[in-house]
Amino acid sequence: MSAALRTQVGIVGSGPSGLLLAQLLHLAGVDSVVLERRSRDYVLGRIRAGVLEQTTAEILRRARVGARMDREGLVHRGVELCFGERTQRIDFSPFGASVTVYGQTELTRDLMEARDALGGKSIYEAEDVAIEGVTGGAARLRWRKDGEQHLLDCDFVAGCDGFHGVSRRSIPAAELRTHERVYPFGWLGVLADVPPVSHELIYSSHERGFALCSMRSATRSRCYVQCALDDDLREWSDERFWDELRTRLPAEAAAKLQAGPTIEKSIAPLRSFVAEPLRYGRLFLAGDAAHIVPPTGAKGLNLAARDVDQLATALIAHYRDGRDELLNVYSDAALRRIWRAERFSAWMTSVLHRFPGRTSFDRAMQIAELDYLVGSAAARAAFVESYAGTLAVTVGAAT
Ligand code: APR
Ligand code: PHB
Repeated sequence: MSAALRTQVGIVGSGPSGLLLAQLLHLAGVDSVVLERRSRDYVLGRIRAGVLEQTTAEILRRARVGARMDREGLVHRGVELCFGERTQRIDFSPFGASVTVYGQTELTRDLMEARDALGGKSIYEAEDVAIEGVTGGAARLRWRKDGEQHLLDCDFVAGCDGFHGVSRRSIPAAELRTHERVYPFGWLGVLADVPPVSHELIYSSHERGFALCSMRSATRSRCYVQCALDDDLREWSDERFWDELRTRLPAEAAAKLQAGPTIEKSIAPLRSFVAEPLRYGRLFLAGDAAHIVPPTGAKGLNLAARDVDQLATALIAHYRDGRDELLNVYSDAALRRIWRAERFSAWMTSVLHRFPGRTSFDRAMQIAELDYLVGSAAARAAFVESYAGTLAVTVGAAT
């Protein structure tokens, strides 16, 4: 056993939540150590979300990791929705809103490089991380690396270790309520070096199921089709994927679709999940460790950034001013914001996907919802508020 390390905030997980928290704390003079189960390359190899709200972009700039995003990110002022035979653009401009398309993989790289530049400590391939003492006077993290046991003493633990992490599981079941909806389908996603079908995102609600055309750059597409949860990836050749996507797009977009070899292909299940409360003694949950949204609303990464900004502000107030009000309201304030994003994500999912056992009435309701959305200025305003994340909220603390 090596001698115990000591830090102020022990951060479990080196995804966007853990890395952004470490960065915000570091800039305010609060010390942290990040513990990650996987290797750095593995974390950087994951293809995840790609749409940043304006507030997320501002948090990243404040964290001094916005330079490449500002250079290479694609600013979008609208999205296209397709349903029935119709294609309608929802224009964000009347609401002064925009989003930036910038891959989570790139953001993770920027955060890792920023941490290296500031000399922050991250420990990769930390196995069997265990969280102890969070209801007592000090917390302790234990892990194994290279066959040796290691210890980290800290004041607080930030559980940023995603849905399958150890942090949420460290809270006794009697202290935690969870709320979950598992959807009866998944998304088959591909990444390919072909130009995007359109310069904006296309969300399509088709008879055969949902489809989404997104991108990572002017030459790289990120596209998805709704699939069965038990679909076998080996049965989805590149050709079959592009054919299915083409079928689910309106004629004009389908004609522009360029097929090409895929760089990555995977199936992800869709889930809505919230754990509460987000605090257990000295342990705070943030990001996917606390909640999951189905990707339809593009909220996951944005929620994580806001959780972490709020938690960083609260921890900084503790160390700088000796004030704990923000730590005390973290859970309640974050949960109100989280439930709003859960609502929007579940709604987007329900109107755009093909659910098993759907009746003609259910389909007509979806079309009526989408028809109302594109036809009503009030409905479009509400959509943009949630999609672009422009809703201003005051819940007794920074949200
Ligand atoms: N010990 C240490 N690290 C762990 C453990 C563990 N027991 N379990 C998981 N981890 C690591 C994972 O390997 C991963 O690198 O925690 C990290 C969690 O990262 P993410 O899953 O990316 O979660 P988060 O950082 O909250 O990111 C927000 O928003 O767009 C969504 O799902 C998308 O990942 C994205 C999320
Ligand atoms: C993506 O680009 O990966 C993406 C975009 C929008 C979504 C989900 C994923 O709603």
